Amino acid sequence: MQNFNIVLIGFMGTGKSAVARYLEQEYGMESAEMDQIIAEREGKSIPEIFSEYGEEYFRSLETRLLREFKGRKQIVISCGGGVPMRAENAAELKKIGKSVLLTASPETVYRRVRNSHDRPVLSGRGSVEGIAELMEERREKYKAAADYVIDTENKTIPEVCRELMEKVSGIGELSDV
Ligand code: S3P
Repeated sequence: MQNFNIVLIGFMGTGKSAVARYLEQEYGMESAEMDQIIAEREGKSIPEIFSEYGEEYFRSLETRLLREFKGRKQIVISCGGGVPMRAENAAELKKIGKSVLLTASPETVYRRVRNSHDRPVLSGRGSVEGIAELMEERREKYKAAADYVIDTENKTIPEVCRELMEKVSGIGELSDV
């Protein structure tokens, strides 16, 4: 059992939630899905929070929640895709655990999210080009926040999780960023 938290970061549709669920089932880790916790606490869906209170309000809830993980252990935290964009969150991520950036191509992300209606930042960007553009805008901040990077393209969830556990346990390469 790991004595630290694993923090999953990355663009929407890169598999953070699925990886967290798998690590919970197969590796016995506790998992925390930030979006779900925020929605439950607010009693509203993520799109409702965005439309009723605005994005900044949502981002502040993310920052507050992130701070709650400090001092806790053995949790796999699935972050909302925008978490590493705020400088204060990026600093917080470093204190919470080992950050693993999941990546996928814009085409794959598009395929995974095109039928989803709960991602307000994609409204008006619901195309491969729109996704590629936002991904590019975010690339440097994701990279800066990551201790490890895993390309999920053409890999199954169990394969991604095996690679992740090897990396965070220090088996094989220590880091590739
Ligand atoms: C967002 C990603 C979403 C959610 C919100 C904003 C983003 O989470 O937090 O819609 O800015 O990338 P997922 O990455 O889990 O879809």
